[in-house]
Amino acid sequence: MQTIPISNVKITRRQRKELDSEEVEALADSIERWGLLHPVTLRRKDNGLIAGFRRIQAHLALGRSEIEFRYHDELTDIEVKELELEENIRRVNLTWQEEAQAIAEIHSLKQEIDPEWTTSKTAEFVGKSTGTVSTAVSITREAERDPSVWEAKGVVAAKNKVDRKRKIEARKIRAASVPETGPSAEIKTGDAAELILAEPDEEFDAVVTNFPFGVDLEFKSGERPYEDDETYITDLVMGMVPEIYRVLKDDSWAIMFFDIRKMTYNTFMAQTYDHRDKVSRRGMGLKRWCEEAGFSYVSMLPFIWVKPNKRQGLIGNADRGMVVAYEAGIFAAKGDPTLNVSGRQNIFVYDTLTTGERDFSVEMPPDLCDELVRMVCYQGDKILDPFAGSGAIGSAALRRDCNFVGFEIDPERAELGNLKLRETRNE
Ligand SMILES: C[S@@+](CC[C@H](N)C(=O)[O-])C[C@H]1O[C@@H](n2cnc3c(N)ncnc32)[C@H](O)[C@@H]1O
Repeated sequence: MQTIPISNVKITRRQRKELDSEEVEALADSIERWGLLHPVTLRRKDNGLIAGFRRIQAHLALGRSEIEFRYHDELTDIEVKELELEENIRRVNLTWQEEAQAIAEIHSLKQEIDPEWTTSKTAEFVGKSTGTVSTAVSITREAERDPSVWEAKGVVAAKNKVDRKRKIEARKIRAASVPETGPSAEIKTGDAAELILAEPDEEFDAVVTNFPFGVDLEFKSGERPYEDDETYITDLVMGMVPEIYRVLKDDSWAIMFFDIRKMTYNTFMAQTYDHRDKVSRRGMGLKRWCEEAGFSYVSMLPFIWVKPNKRQGLIGNADRGMVVAYEAGIFAAKGDPTLNVSGRQNIFVYDTLTTGERDFSVEMPPDLCDELVRMVCYQGDKILDPFAGSGAIGSAALRRDCNFVGFEIDPERAELGNLKLRETRNE
């Protein structure tokens, strides 16, 4: 391989951009260990640098004064393509999608030439970490099957999406072999307001549900589990309450989580409020809607689910607001039921699930669901969760040997929920 004194290479001002010193050091280490895998590329007429400024810097860092090179006209077509891609990656303002695609393309080009080629070699070649390269490769491969991967907010969100899809596919294959035995459990996909109309009167022994709250929620990853319109959700829940009452058997319980601000009413306001006025009905809150629907007893004050491990989810200004580490709910009785436990405090202390443990961002922990189900159900009962999410209540129902029906408007969550139900049977 021909070499040239580095001082003879012509480098333009544009090429002399600031380099990350750690990157240069890492490259220098690798060159010392393995040698220079890729000679720099020069223009024949004036030894102008076409590609390889980082490699030159790494050589200088190693105290070397000469570097291996090739002229651009000596490159094969594939090498020219590689060069373009490599240059592409150096461009500023590259979107994360463009960068991931370019890295993945370089990687597959290299693998075509050399089947032994590894992600760490591509990492060295493009000056990125091995993790960045494997993420780019897996996102790009998945996007060939499902282009919606590119719609993610950023590379981290896309990677999470791809990892989740893979995990779910593997789970589906395993779950397909589980025989359907024991109590029945199913999540139906669709709008709860419509699906509940098809359920017969007095069909269920309990309703346990976590209503949508009518608030928008966005996580740091850019994931948006909710974009709820407050009026729509309020009217939806207001309309669901009488239906929930209708489908419950006599002497049964409904446990309902809801936005605490939409839960209780002001006793004085209750004396004057006009039942026909929709606006004031909305403001009366869940407790009042339950009473209007016919529930004989509704928790005097909401119960609270305390989440000690909650570290994220500030309200407003981080210096003034606090992390919201609880949710609220109420128990509503149809007829004259009793709880299966007496004198329990109205706080439930359960950690939320970690990202790795849950299928769905607001999935309720199994221990909490188990306790709630135990409080209001017996073996063989039939439980409804009209807002089933990914089936946490349904799984608790199965663990209690109860039958379960769920509704869920989001098809992906419903599918995951049904998968979880099958897996619960297998536990
Ligand atoms: C608070 S989450 C329930 C979480 C669930 N308990 C779990 O642990 O996974 C509320 C769910 O209601 C669903 N939802 C919202 N509007 C709906 C509707 N009109 N019909 C059915 N489901 C709906 C949302 O997609 C969301 O999954």
